[in-house]
Amino acid sequence: MGLGTVVHVVGARPNFVKMAPVIAALEDRGDVAQRIVHTGQHYDERMSAEMLSDLEFPEPDVFLAVGSGTHGAQTARALEAFEAVLLEEEPDLVCVGGDVNSTLAVALATAKLGIPIAHVESGLRSFDWTMPEEINRVLTDRLSDILFTHSPEAATNLAVEGIDPARVRFVGNTMIDSLRRFEARAEEREPWRPLNLDRGDYVLVTLHRPSNVDAGPQLRRVVDALVGLAGHARVVFPVHPRTTERLRSEGLLSSLLGAGVECLEPLGYLDFLGLQIGAGAIVTDSGGVQEEASALGVPCFTLRPNTERPVTITHGTNTLLGEDPAPIADIRPRELEHREAHIEGWDGHAGQRAADVIAAALGSKRAKALA
Ligand code: UD1
Repeated sequence: MGLGTVVHVVGARPNFVKMAPVIAALEDRGDVAQRIVHTGQHYDERMSAEMLSDLEFPEPDVFLAVGSGTHGAQTARALEAFEAVLLEEEPDLVCVGGDVNSTLAVALATAKLGIPIAHVESGLRSFDWTMPEEINRVLTDRLSDILFTHSPEAATNLAVEGIDPARVRFVGNTMIDSLRRFEARAEEREPWRPLNLDRGDYVLVTLHRPSNVDAGPQLRRVVDALVGLAGHARVVFPVHPRTTERLRSEGLLSSLLGAGVECLEPLGYLDFLGLQIGAGAIVTDSGGVQEEASALGVPCFTLRPNTERPVTITHGTNTLLGEDPAPIADIRPRELEHREAHIEGWDGHAGQRAADVIAAALGSKRAKALA
C-alpha cells in the first residue's frame, strides 16, 4: 500500500496498550500497509487474549510463541523467530514499543538486517542497571532510527547518551490515548460492584517486579504491609502470574486471603482500567500504572526506589515509597485528594502524531536516511 509496509511487534501486556493507538492511526490514514507480529512473551488468556480483545486490537498476522523462560532464553527465542519473519516480510520499517524483552530482541534482529526501527516510548531512564527493562530501554534506543518520546526528560536522557536529536520526536503518550478512548466504557462496567467495593473506598494493588516478588524476605514484608492495610481498608489485588507463583511457593497467599485481601486473576484492560478509575488509591511497581493513575488523578504509591517516569511525580499523582513496603499499611484511601494531571502530549492524540511521523519518514525515505 502507498508509502510502504510497517511491521509492528507486540509481545507483553503493556505493549498492547501502547501500540494499539499507533496501529489504529496508521489504519485511519490508509496509506501504509501494516503487519502485526505477536512474539507470545505473554500468552495466557488474561495476559494476552483478553487485553487484545478489550483494546479492539487487530488480529496479529504472525504469532511466534516464544513464551516464558530466563531472560537469555526468552530474548534469544524472540530474536531468532523474528529474524525469520523479517526475511520473509521485508518491511520498510519495524515499530516496537516499551522496554520488555521482546522489544530488545526485535530491535536487535531488525538493526542487524539494516531495516529502520521506530521505538514508541523512547528515552525513559530509571538509571537502575539492575532492572532488565533499563537494559532493554538503553539498547533499544541505541538501535532505533525514529525515537518517539512522551515526556520532556526523555530528550535530555537521549542527548546525554549521544543520540542525534534529529532522530527524536516528541509525540506524547500513546498509553494515555488508549485510556482516553476506553475510560467511559471501563467506568460503565463498574468493576468494583461485583466485588462489593464502594467507589473511592478501596486500594488497588499491582506488584510483579522481580525486586519485590522474587526474593522471599521482601515478598514477606510486602505481604505484612498489605495485611496491615487490609486491617482498615478494602484491598483488591489482581495478581500477576509471576507473583502468584512466588506467593504460593513462599506459603504467603493464605496470609493475604486470611486478611481479606481480594486476590484476583490478572484482569483484562477494561476491568483493570475501571478498577483504577474507582480506586481511592493505587499501590504499584508497574511503569504504566504510574502513568494511568496520574492521568486519572488517582493517588499512586510506587514501591520502587526510582522511576523512569519522573513526570508522574512532578506533574502527576505518584509518590515513590522506596523499597520499604511498611508505609503501605498507613494508606487511607478515603482521605486522599484526587487531582487529574495535565501533562503535555498526554492528550489522546499521540498515536496520530506518531503515525504522521512514520508516514512522512516512509514517504521521504527518511527512515533509512536517519539510520
Ligand atoms: C514483563 C516485562 C515487564 C512488564 C511485565 C508486564 C520483561 C523483562 N519484563 O514482565 O517489564 O512490566 O511484563 O506484565 O520483559 N507468565 C504466565 N503467563 C503469561 C506470561 C507470563 O504465566 O502469559 C508467567 C511465567 O511464569 C513467567 C512469568 O510470568 O515466567 C514472568 O513473565 P515474563 O514475560 O518473563 O515477565 P513479566 O514478569 O511478565
